[in-house]
Amino acid sequence: MKPVVVLHASQLVTLAGPKRPRIGGEMSDLAVIRDGGMLVRDGKIDIAGPSKEIEKKARDAEIIDAGGRVVLPGFVDAHTHLIFGGNRLDDFERRAHGETYEQIAAAGGGIWSTVEKTRASSDADLFAQAKRRAHWFLKCGTTTVEAKSGYGLTVENELKILRVMRRLNQETPLEVVSTFLGAHAIPRGLRESDYIDLVIKEMLPRVASERLAEFCDVFCERGYFDIEQSRRILTVAKKLGFELRAHVDQLTNSGGAKLAAQLGAITADHLEKTDQEGIAALKSANVQPVLLPGSVYALGSTFYPRAREMIDAGLAVVLATDFNPGSSPSVSMPMMLSLACTHMKMSPAEAIAASTINAAYSLNRGDKIGSLEPGKLANFSIFDCEDYRELGYWFGFSQAHSVYVHGECVRSGGL
Ligand code: NIG
Ligand code: FE
Repeated sequence: MKPVVVLHASQLVTLAGPKRPRIGGEMSDLAVIRDGGMLVRDGKIDIAGPSKEIEKKARDAEIIDAGGRVVLPGFVDAHTHLIFGGNRLDDFERRAHGETYEQIAAAGGGIWSTVEKTRASSDADLFAQAKRRAHWFLKCGTTTVEAKSGYGLTVENELKILRVMRRLNQETPLEVVSTFLGAHAIPRGLRESDYIDLVIKEMLPRVASERLAEFCDVFCERGYFDIEQSRRILTVAKKLGFELRAHVDQLTNSGGAKLAAQLGAITADHLEKTDQEGIAALKSANVQPVLLPGSVYALGSTFYPRAREMIDAGLAVVLATDFNPGSSPSVSMPMMLSLACTHMKMSPAEAIAASTINAAYSLNRGDKIGSLEPGKLANFSIFDCEDYRELGYWFGFSQAHSVYVHGECVRSGGL
């Protein structure tokens, strides 16, 4: 493979720094190189530096002229529900008429309605829908996503979803990291305890033995899985070798952050209702908070998580889309940057660190992706702007000019 040289980025946003998630003031240091460039060999970054220096190594290389645009590591979206059948347009319309997420779920919409559509979709159909969405992510500059199962809720349907993820990872340029979320809801017609037994005794061992997921997640929430049920499921998952993530304190403060800390989860996600005590618990166990402003926005709430307090407490904050058909139908990390800066008072630099390097560490991939440093994969995007702060400033459309995975262009077009 011919070497590739990138030249003339107005800002090469490298995020070079310590080999660990960034905390406190470190989140503001993006290690930007003005008029920057990179030499890429065999899909990996060899050198990142000023264009002038990189140009000297450009002999025999394929040249990508960034033309004074911003270059950023591919976004790492550490929380999505990418595989599902259909959509939730009816819920969307009901919310417009003033019904809440919980009311809609109780009336037959919500997660359950997506479970029915997902069960009714064949593997091929689910894959086709997911493939289309994978290209939406790439189009917005995202090159890695975490994806959760959870719309099957039977052994076969959960496995079907996880296999579609594996195929998506193999057959599209988007890197897909799998999480098992069998404990997303109690299926209609089953007793809570029977379903939890099924998750623990049948689903988790099958997912582990077929190596279909790296992480296990639980929706710990009133009306879904309470603290003790969540603890039981996650404890078994940990014994089987899964790392833990958990949906906690989204709609109510039930002590989910504390549970995540007690179990040594790698992330605690949502946290809209988490208080200071919960933040201190996360810090005590170095759990990474994954904040999901898209779901706050799309549910029409103004109750955003306390990002500032979390950063000030020294937590390695992550931002993600929570892409799903119900509470966050958006694949756009730039939209999340906008929401984080406008509604959570994160600085543009902090928001970028949260959606690249910190997100990469939350997926145990901090050594391979999330920054533009020698040895890392050449996953990067060129944006049609000159200053990285423009990414969250202009909102509601994609400024991605072109997107590269392992040094190869997977998306181009521009504005
Ligand atoms: O993260 N909270 C649970 N799961 C999703 C919503 C899924 C759905 O509504 O389909 C979330 O917001
Ligand atoms: Fe979620």
